[in-house]
Amino acid sequence: MRTLRLGKTGVEVSAISYGTWPFSGPNTNPAGVPVGWTGHDDQLGLAALRAAHAAGINHWDTADVYGDGRSEQLIGRVWGDVPRDEVFLASKVGWDPGEFGHYYHPQLIRQRVERSLKNLGVERLDLYYLHHCDFGPNDAYLDDAIGLLRQLRDEGKVRFIGLSDWDASKIVRVADRVDPDVIQPYRNVGADDYVSSGLKEWVDAHDVGVAFFSPIRHGLLLGKYEAPAQFGEGDFRLNVDAFRDADTLARLREKRAALEEKFAGRAQPVLGPLLGALLSDAPTGCVLLGLRNPDQVAAAAAVEPLSYDEASWVRDLYADLSV
Ligand SMILES: NC(=O)c1ccc[n+]([C@@H]2O[C@H](COP(=O)([O-])OP(=O)(O)OC[C@H]3O[C@@H](n4cnc5c(N)ncnc54)[C@H](OP(=O)(O)O)[C@@H]3O)[C@@H](O)[C@H]2O)c1
Repeated sequence: MRTLRLGKTGVEVSAISYGTWPFSGPNTNPAGVPVGWTGHDDQLGLAALRAAHAAGINHWDTADVYGDGRSEQLIGRVWGDVPRDEVFLASKVGWDPGEFGHYYHPQLIRQRVERSLKNLGVERLDLYYLHHCDFGPNDAYLDDAIGLLRQLRDEGKVRFIGLSDWDASKIVRVADRVDPDVIQPYRNVGADDYVSSGLKEWVDAHDVGVAFFSPIRHGLLLGKYEAPAQFGEGDFRLNVDAFRDADTLARLREKRAALEEKFAGRAQPVLGPLLGALLSDAPTGCVLLGLRNPDQVAAAAAVEPLSYDEASWVRDLYADLSV
């Protein structure tokens, strides 16, 4: 597995890193919106984590809200087999307002970090993210939230500070004030405002680490769906119309065929180019790929790097597609 320096953290992480949102299991938020994943199996998840460690996938990403702690708790069961100090472990806070009225109330963050440490069975998080950039009216909660994260760092509970959002321009807006070590933006070949928002320029100028999330848009971009997908209750993918749009799915299958032809002979002619297209212009960047089982870990581990020209070809292939 290729590794890279995660920007100013100085830590070497795998170019393909592990996203554990699917460990949530089915779940809905207090507003009744599906925010989990069906099809999860704890034993397969544990086997996948062990396989990832063996394959050199050494950066694992979770969050307090993934299954209301279920994802963190599953990771916490692996330390008997995987040395804790061989994993760069990240979690997040920010999508559950709790009883304090805002996601980033300092008392809530304090409560949440303690809960995450307990769920994960660790003394310290390597990376702790603010999960989104909504800091309330006039950013009222911003300064206190950052102050608390720095305090947690001083206390040794958190090593590095991260900032995330689905919208790259929202990260750009507060990036200087938060001064994160790592950012986590949404990026894939079907949705790519990382460059146009100015975030790439800011990252490069400040030597910040990057972890691109949903790099194959929850599996959709693999072009593996022959027919509109059905998901059970509590599955986040119910919110994504493209999974049920026959025309989009047909176009994704065509793109998949084009990748298979162009990259025939590569171990992963579809997954590899989809991920390589995101990594080639990001020297301090990795992708966070959701991995359900050891077979998917093996596929990720077999991905070969892409040249800059090949990555441009892939981006051009998907340029007419917005999913
Ligand atoms: N900061 C944020 O706001 C935020 C938001 C979203 C995600 N994230 C992070 O980013 C991670 C990844 O994003 P994501 O989970 O949305 O989706 P993703 O990585 O784009 O897609 C992952 C899904 O694709 C399928 N897949 C993966 N490898 C495959 C293979 N070799 N063959 C066939 N199918 C394969 C699996 O689902 P199936 O097997 O069910 O198809 C897997 O769960 C998350 O786990 C989380 O850590 C962060």
